Amino acid sequence: MRILGIESSCDETAMAIYCHEGGLLGHVVHSQLETHRPHGGVVPELASRDHLNQLLPLLMEVLAKTGLSRFDLSSIAYTAGPGLIGALLTGACFAKALAFALDIPALAIHHLEAHILVAILDNPEIEFPFMTLLVSGGHTQLIEARALGDYRILGDTLDDAAGEAFDKTAKLMGIPYPGGAILAKWADAHDVDVSETSFKAFPRPMTNRPGLDFSFSGLKTHVAEVWRMSTQDDAARGALAHAFQSAVVDTLVIKASRAIRDSGIRKLILAGGVGANRALRQALSDLMVREQGKLYVPRMEFCTDNGAMVAYAGYLQIMQGKTDASHAIEVRPRWPLCSS
Ligand code: KG4
Ligand code: ZN
Repeated sequence: MRILGIESSCDETAMAIYCHEGGLLGHVVHSQLETHRPHGGVVPELASRDHLNQLLPLLMEVLAKTGLSRFDLSSIAYTAGPGLIGALLTGACFAKALAFALDIPALAIHHLEAHILVAILDNPEIEFPFMTLLVSGGHTQLIEARALGDYRILGDTLDDAAGEAFDKTAKLMGIPYPGGAILAKWADAHDVDVSETSFKAFPRPMTNRPGLDFSFSGLKTHVAEVWRMSTQDDAARGALAHAFQSAVVDTLVIKASRAIRDSGIRKLILAGGVGANRALRQALSDLMVREQGKLYVPRMEFCTDNGAMVAYAGYLQIMQGKTDASHAIEVRPRWPLCSS
């Protein structure tokens, strides 16, 4: 069984082939960074157009890389949502047309479910149930994963997602797109004790209230205010980035710790683009040692959007008996995980 995974929900076009016997055979990613950089953020129309340019060359590339022909494929898995409608449509139409031509099934995959499940690709010993902290550009959620396709959202963000907060905070400090990952580098390079700088007492939003929900927009506003009053040079940028990152990481760790204790589930998966944040990975790993449990993280390159997660989610669903139920080209820009 060889499954082609296709990802096109936002600003990465990506493909991978996962094989029942051989595991992940190969994967390729095209980042649209250069397309969006002049605009300071993702422009949906440009994203769709670029996916159209990339899909066929990427298919040829992943086939060449794995030494396979398209006739060796037995199924296709494609991201059907959530994401940008135009971007999703390009991948979905491509997947369905290819599947029709090859007379093989094409399965609609939930992007966030794929982000979660890819941790199992490198850690096959993980069994349900497990807790997930999903932190991406659009989502910050604590999820109890009970079984494949059975997810309960325990906590959600009331406003900005963690990745969005990283990106917006970066922008207001003059850090260029893609801000989040670059802000994290500034933070790591300025590992100072915040109490020794002028940036004291950054809020840890909603941690002194019960519950597992998040809110990051106040923190962003706080940074904006402190930045405005600062010297606005590299020293201020570094110290502020570090103070901001520490506040986000602490907040996520406090809520994750609460979810672990309340549920008694001692396995935690970190998923989504912010999962590439080194400080967060370390802090959650320390938390799970304290809680006598274990943290599972995808390899760095599979934290951000990729084709391997889509191919692997398709594989797990096929193994569970899921088939291609309709010939409709399915895209769901808004698709709650609990109804996947
Ligand atoms: O999962 P993802 O690739 O796309 C979505 O589905 O949203 O996540 C992208 C998000 C962006 O907001 C980006 O700034 C953030 O992940 N991100 C990071 C890091 N690398 C990517 N945030 C903090 N630290 C990082 N190292
Ligand atoms: Zn994503």
